[in-house]
Amino acid sequence: MSLKENWEKRSDDYLTWGEGVSFNLIKRNLVYANILRLMLARKIKELQPCSLLEVGCGPGRLFSLYQHISSVVCVDLSPKMVERARQTAKEKGLSNIMVQEMDAGCLCFEKVFDMIITSNLLLHIPHVMIEKVISSICRYSSDVVCVEWVEPGGVDCGDCYLHDYEELFMGHGYVLVDRRVVPFEKQLLMHFRRVEI
Ligand SMILES: C[S@@+](CC[C@H](N)C(=O)[O-])C[C@H]1O[C@@H](n2cnc3c(N)ncnc32)[C@H](O)[C@@H]1O
Repeated sequence: MSLKENWEKRSDDYLTWGEGVSFNLIKRNLVYANILRLMLARKIKELQPCSLLEVGCGPGRLFSLYQHISSVVCVDLSPKMVERARQTAKEKGLSNIMVQEMDAGCLCFEKVFDMIITSNLLLHIPHVMIEKVISSICRYSSDVVCVEWVEPGGVDCGDCYLHDYEELFMGHGYVLVDRRVVPFEKQLLMHFRRVEI
């Protein structure tokens, strides 16, 4: 099954995953989602972007964070996720968000963004493709904030890959300017900034 087919399949229960498995898992997913939103909200407040790109937005669980940003573009590989994300934006009345179907490894825009967010995307990119994806992302912003796994474990371990993000971004002239541990999820929020030489 291709990566795209896999995400098409997972789009059906992405937000409710864990239900029917155990109450503790549901609780853990909810707590995680709230912590994630809180940590990213702080970053957005700090950077005050007028434009933002989210790569691998899924059904749009982070969209409420973007309500005060003038121009937001969110992309995803899976057409079904894109459809769900558009629905989320519509339901929340967020006309500032445009959702497009696009592969993270082949991003194509005519402008750059004040900030890029990836949340639980890069950890799903296989080793053979990660350099292409990072290189594609780095073309579109000087500030990239990623929430990704840095050691095995966490809620969902299917199709996950560990990458050396510092090394990958350093190869494109970025340094890690902020690093925060996401409580109990073996994840980090990492803020990379391009260094001007
Ligand atoms: C685990 S979900 C994360 C969704 C969202 N960022 C969040 O935190 O809720 C990963 C998302 O990345 C998307 N994705 C996976 N590979 C991708 C690629 N190469 N390009 C763009 N999106 C991709 C999947 O379709 C899926 O929606």
